[in-house]
Order: sequence, then structure tokens, then C-alpha cells
Amino acid sequence: MSGKTTFTMIKPDAFEANHSGAIIKIIEEAGFEIKAAKLTKLSAERAGQFYEVHKERPFYDHLVNYMSSGAIIAMVLEKQNAVEDFRKLIGATNPAEAAEGTIRKLFAKSIEANAIHGSDSDENAAIEASFFFSKTERF
Ligand code: CMP
Repeated sequence: MSGKTTFTMIKPDAFEANHSGAIIKIIEEAGFEIKAAKLTKLSAERAGQFYEVHKERPFYDHLVNYMSSGAIIAMVLEKQNAVEDFRKLIGATNPAEAAEGTIRKLFAKSIEANAIHGSDSDENAAIEASFFFSKTERF
């Protein structure tokens, strides 16, 4: 059992397709509490900073372009074992490999436009949450 906080973004493809409500319903029904939420749009510069860890990957430029192409909903979520349980709920990065019933299986369009982000560690959850929210913006 690890920490109780994770960070997520509903990505431009899912927001644009009006899947945000359905996705948030799944998240809440799985027992996650929303501690902060923000509808926003990343500039290319901010998207580049967020995905800095992928800078050397061949898909980096395209990813930055995609993540700054439309609105996103950033959220901080809480639940016991948040990071691991949330990654199970969203499914594999590639929707073709995502398990039935997962958010990516239901809503993702491709390995890049994969509907939703979930932090991969407690450490990154804290970094990513503070990328979008100050302490006073969290409940
Ligand atoms: P996420 O797990 O949120 O963070 C990294 C993102 O990079 C990932 O979701 C996808 O949106 C994207 N990504 C990962 N692998 C690939 C890939 N092979 N091709 C294109 N985009 C990718």
C-alpha cells in the first residue's frame, strides 16, 4: 500500500469528445475523492515542461503539440493506494492493450490521444499536482 494522492488530466481528445462527465463518474464511483480540479489549456511551453521526462523520445514533439491543442481537466485525487489503483482504473497506455472496462479501453483513440493521464509514482504525483495547483487550491 502506497500514498493516497494521485494526479490526472482528462486529455484534449476526451474533453473534445464530451467524455469528461462519464470519465469523472467512473473515477468517483471507484472511490477517488476530487481534491482539486481545473479546466485549462496548456501552452506548448508548459506541455513541454510537463513531459520533460520524455524529451528524448521520438514522440515528444508530437505529444507536446497534441497536449497543447485543446482544453484539459487537471485533477488531484485521493484514495488509499491512489497511484496504483488509478493506473488500474485507466488501463494500459496503448488502448489496444487496455483491459475491458478501463477508461482508456472505453474512451481512448490512440496510444497518444489516450484520453487520460495518471501519475506513475507517489513522487511524480506530488510534482505533477504542484505543477497545476498551489496548496491553497486543494481541499
Ligand atoms: P501518459 O502516460 O499520460 O504520458 C506520456 C504520454 O506520451 C502517454 O500518456 C501518451 O499520451 C504518449 N505516448 C506514450 N507512448 C507513446 C508512443 N509510443 N507514441 C505516441 N505517444 C505516446
